Amino acid sequence: MTSEIINIPTHVSIIMDGNGRWAHKKGHKRLFGHNAGVESVRAAVEYAREKGIRYLSLFAFSEENWGRPDEEVSGLMALMAKAVADERATFAKYDIRFRIIGNREQLPEDLVATVEELEAETLSNSSMDLIVMLSYSGRWDILQAASRYGEICANAAREGLPLPYLDQDSFAGLLSTDGIPDPDLIIRTSGEQRISNYMLWQAAYTEFYITEVLWPDFRKNDFDRALVSFNNRQRRFGKLK
Ligand code: IPE
Ligand code: IPE
Ligand code: MG
Repeated sequence: MTSEIINIPTHVSIIMDGNGRWAHKKGHKRLFGHNAGVESVRAAVEYAREKGIRYLSLFAFSEENWGRPDEEVSGLMALMAKAVADERATFAKYDIRFRIIGNREQLPEDLVATVEELEAETLSNSSMDLIVMLSYSGRWDILQAASRYGEICANAAREGLPLPYLDQDSFAGLLSTDGIPDPDLIIRTSGEQRISNYMLWQAAYTEFYITEVLWPDFRKNDFDRALVSFNNRQRRFGKLK
């Protein structure tokens, strides 16, 4: 059952958390939970597309997640490569542009190759953007933007040009999310009430929705509850309404 939602967010982002706990509850290893989580990704993508959400971003692997045991990290990377390749037909069917955002230098070459093939293939799809945040962290993003600005300034100084003006918009243009509107709604599964180094700049005025549901159990009705909650929020952006 879905409800009447008038105010559909332009950009929804999901911190897909709780795979390990889900697996443990069932007496399995953590990777079993990550595997099951792929089905939830499919359901979320389909539902977002159905609802007319223009941008869906999914936090799949943080910079800090590299610190997990090798077995889990390599299992996750293999799973990502397979999951991405398996979605080729879905992207075509639903006219979805796919891309990843994060530090690509840290990712395995075969995964990057698969991803880049699909990024090129889906470049002109325009009904929805699906962005998978992979080897991403908010501080990494801000730092890489700051160092790019440093380079631009160094080049300008070398050529005797004035230093480029820096304001919020121009800085946002140096972030890895350039061209993507800030998330209107961030959903976090598994009940944790923290940001875990995600979209620190972009989430300045994002609405949060936290659910106890573990990611492998997250389905359309859970997504719908988040949208209903968003629909009832009054966003003020620091001003008076
Ligand atoms: C989220 O699930 C997926 C990743 C962070 C890669 P977790 O693996 O964090 O699962 P929990 O939080 O330990 O249950
Ligand atoms: C956040 O989950 C990262 C992803 C969902 C990819 P974590 O499980 O890594 O976050 P913490 O450690 O509980 O803050
Ligand atoms: Mg977790």
